[in-house]
Amino acid sequence: MRTVVGHADLKTELKGLEAPIGFVPTMGFLHAGHISLVQRARQECRAVVVSIFVNPSQFGPKEDLAAYPRDLPRDLAMLKAAGTDLVWTPTPESMYPPGFQTWVTVEALTCGLEGEQRPGHFRGVATVVTKLFNAVAPQRAYFGQKDAQQAAVIRRMTRDLDLPIEIVICPTLRESDGLAMSSRNSYLSPAERTAASVLYRALSAARDAHTQGEHRAEVLRRIMQETLAGEPLAEPEYVSCADAESLQEVEQVSGKTLLSMAVRIGRTRLIDNINLD
Ligand code: PAF
Repeated sequence: MRTVVGHADLKTELKGLEAPIGFVPTMGFLHAGHISLVQRARQECRAVVVSIFVNPSQFGPKEDLAAYPRDLPRDLAMLKAAGTDLVWTPTPESMYPPGFQTWVTVEALTCGLEGEQRPGHFRGVATVVTKLFNAVAPQRAYFGQKDAQQAAVIRRMTRDLDLPIEIVICPTLRESDGLAMSSRNSYLSPAERTAASVLYRALSAARDAHTQGEHRAEVLRRIMQETLAGEPLAEPEYVSCADAESLQEVEQVSGKTLLSMAVRIGRTRLIDNINLD
């Protein structure tokens, strides 16, 4: 496995890789969820490239970029074991040089849910992913379903900008109590960690009600809210029952529907979702 920092070195190393290249963009502090993306890319592509870049432009002014967890040696060991060919760790200065002022904005899809709670977040994500795509020029790129709105935004952006890249969305990996794997889980105290399983319990309760014939979105949202209310450490920011493609709230569940939520457990903000087919 090769590791590069600069754009020029990246270009040189990419010349030695055979297509199709599978690309997994990450912000590091990897867990089994990231590794499942690398493994999927390994199965489907001739070469696997991973980027590790904690992207400052997707953090809001009240979000602590400096405190975002980092452990490069551990990340590199995990990526090597998973069969990665090339790791790119660009610097913030090379990604956002002085005078940088060009942004990629995806419109309606970024207005609700995470976009509403975290203004500017998706502008930062869409811009950095475009830059990473341009630099790596992969044939396929792999993202997790856990960040469902991010996945929808990247799919839309790739289509709208005619980027010749297949976007592959992989299932959320969960701990044994259902908590979705996330780098942010490392912030949770033991009591908060126990409480955090309430997100999946709430999503599962709504999904079970839907399986038993409940199609009213309002009732499914209420089931999620009531389950969250039963956990004293949970402070919900939103619960949503939305069309899985447009992410607009629905009244009735008919086609593909996304149940999603953002919940604060202590000082940690967690998100999760499941699809109803
Ligand atoms: O999902 C992430 O880790 C980030 O949002 C991404 C896609 C790597 C862009 O910085």
